[in-house]
Amino acid sequence: MYCVRNVTEDLYWVGANDHRLHLFENIHPIPRGVSYNSYLLLDEKTALFDTVDWSVCRQLLENIEHLLDGRPLDYLVINHMEPDHGASIEEILIRWPEVKVISTEKSFMLMRQFGFHVDSHELIEVKEGDTQSFGKHVVTFVAAPMVHWPEAMVTFDTTNGVLFSADAFGSFGALDGKLFADEVNFDRDWIDDARRYLTNIVGKYGPHVQLLLGKASGILDQIKYICPLHGPVWRKDLMYFIGKYDKWSRYEPEEKGVMIAYASMYGNTEAAAQALASKLCEKGVTNVWVYDVSNTHVSQLVSESFRLSHIVLASVTYNLGIYPVMHDYLMHLKALNLQHRTFAIIENGSWACKSGDLMQKFVDEEMKNMTVLNERLSLASALNDSKAVELDTLATAIVESVNA
Ligand code: FEO
Repeated sequence: MYCVRNVTEDLYWVGANDHRLHLFENIHPIPRGVSYNSYLLLDEKTALFDTVDWSVCRQLLENIEHLLDGRPLDYLVINHMEPDHGASIEEILIRWPEVKVISTEKSFMLMRQFGFHVDSHELIEVKEGDTQSFGKHVVTFVAAPMVHWPEAMVTFDTTNGVLFSADAFGSFGALDGKLFADEVNFDRDWIDDARRYLTNIVGKYGPHVQLLLGKASGILDQIKYICPLHGPVWRKDLMYFIGKYDKWSRYEPEEKGVMIAYASMYGNTEAAAQALASKLCEKGVTNVWVYDVSNTHVSQLVSESFRLSHIVLASVTYNLGIYPVMHDYLMHLKALNLQHRTFAIIENGSWACKSGDLMQKFVDEEMKNMTVLNERLSLASALNDSKAVELDTLATAIVESVNA
């Protein structure tokens, strides 16, 4: 049975939702599922924009067959070749062998690498600024390299203002019928998953997202719809989401606030993290979020690190090093290129306490444009009254920095 929604005149969402997949890219938990968006334009010629993950290919095919109602599929536009969108290309080519495939040179190369038999079909290789008419609708192609793979492009329909934005402006979360961002309370129910998606999937490529936003800025008044490959379609308050993407890709925090990420074996470092959280609130900074790195998925830690301005690293010393899970979290922040944050450090060790120096060295030497506050809380096994002044001094330094 088909399951489609009309986006705007001539254009339909023909994608599908997936609640079965536990780990997106086999690494990021998606408890609210994910959508794979594909769009079908019914003009004088018919055009499909991107396909879907193999797991939901059957739904895509039923959707297309229903809407085509016997018409041929004339064009297949591939904006992004990663398999969560490109996996069903071969099946489309088998069902509609006359379809002309439009994509970039690198994308065709990837299709061949993935084993698709594209060369027996008509291929139209496009580059920045090329246009294509489907009848009433004329689209222009815009290169979007590294958003999020090198072959990526976005397509802008100059007739109705639809931007097919590929991975940009996407979000984790299944749509479950609600296609448009204005049909949900996005800022309450979706923004955390949108941030977790962008920062973990495309976070490393902030400058490339900035490049794309720069290209879009010239035609902002013409963009009426943003149709991403995951998550809701945007037709209202576009600047709300564009503003979020701008902040995330510039590595600027969304909010002044403090994330306390702690690594604790027996609860003593955790107790220090909680004591600091209370002190911060007592001193007036209440946008404080405490996370145990051992039981919070690193994709969530990354997302919160992009949201907040200040990060407290509280770690026990383990095998004379940083606690492995804390180290893994830091490695993720480095890989995703996070910048412009202020760090504070709490270290613990029953003997040979090393974690503080090592975390400071990591932030100073492995990451870019970070500040580490001089004040540090050092614990020998557990927090006790003798550390009250150190704790208070650290809290004061953080509060002053947040309020600066
Ligand atoms: Fe949703 Fe980069 O693919």
